[in-house]
Amino acid sequence: MGSRIVGTGRALPRTRLSNQDLERRLETSDEWIRTRTGIAQRYVLVSGESLVDIAAEASHIALDRAGLAPSELEAIIVGTVSSDFGFPSFACQLQHRLGITDIPSFDVAAACSGYIYALSVADATMRAGEWGRVLVVGTDALSTMVDWNDRRTAVLFGDGAGASVLVSEPGPRGVLGSVLRSAGEHWNLLSVRNAAGTRCTFDAEIRRSADNAIQMRGPELFRIAVRMMEDVTRRVADKAGVRLEDIALILPHQANARIISAVAERLGLNGDKVFINVDRYGNTSAASVPIALDEALEAHRIRDNDLILLNACGGGLTWGANLIRW
Ligand code: ACO
Repeated sequence: MGSRIVGTGRALPRTRLSNQDLERRLETSDEWIRTRTGIAQRYVLVSGESLVDIAAEASHIALDRAGLAPSELEAIIVGTVSSDFGFPSFACQLQHRLGITDIPSFDVAAACSGYIYALSVADATMRAGEWGRVLVVGTDALSTMVDWNDRRTAVLFGDGAGASVLVSEPGPRGVLGSVLRSAGEHWNLLSVRNAAGTRCTFDAEIRRSADNAIQMRGPELFRIAVRMMEDVTRRVADKAGVRLEDIALILPHQANARIISAVAERLGLNGDKVFINVDRYGNTSAASVPIALDEALEAHRIRDNDLILLNACGGGLTWGANLIRW
């Protein structure tokens, strides 16, 4: 018995920030941001908006497409590092918002790799026969964790949520395998001390001190991210006995268009086999892969029985990949 994704959805905050909007606040330029990152705009939370509401919206869309009611779910797993509460978990808040009780709901904290980790946990547990219908969500609001005066990080991140509904199913389709890795010794390449939840939105009066905002060693992270994403992609293909050239589409974590192109080049993959939407969303952390998956499906870039590969790398450091027969 395996697990198969039968519905996906995405939702975003309503405020769109273009590079030109950022030019008015920071010493930066549309040209710098586009050439170094590929990002043109991103969506950010503003005061009064709730990331749980946004995750619930994405979840309802995924459930509708799966033809399931929230009450039919047997578990909720959320990949996230963004919550207004240390506890309860984001997943418990989402469960409450979806109006369901009495099922296990928990978070997986792996920063930008959160959805990859959560999907792997869901698949392994479903293979073990524990649950038959699981909601897996990736959601983050890293825009609330930056120092809006620090141009090196403020331009990179956006917020959002992507959701998917998995059902247990025998047969050749579904998640074929996952590989997860982490390297705690690199924790200080990308980190944030968290005390303010998601209250420090773009428009909020309260501001994070620079010490409590995202700290990032960008160039080092860039080099390691490229190596890790290549490595984990090869490993998951090997593990499943699949040749890289047989993969129809790779949906990578959308941190930076240059990282994505460098990984594709090292893997010897054509650009048309790699999905990119970082231009419109920025780096939405754990939300980026499920948002990309939802958009790729909507754009008919994925067909039944295609082999698709999801991969990501993020703070921790963490990295991982899932291989799926759609
Ligand atoms: N606007 C204008 N200039 C800027 C900006 C900005 N927004 N940000 C930095 N600069 C300047 C710097 O101050 C520096 O100027 P200096 O040479 O006068 O000191 C110059 O641009 C070059 O800075 P670098 O940091 O060396 O630029 P680089 O080419 O490495 O690009 C970037 C920076 C985009 C952050 C890159 O290192 C990167 O993408 N790293 C990976 C980081 C990442 O993606 N993190 C997300 C989470 S991890 C993950 O998801 C994989």
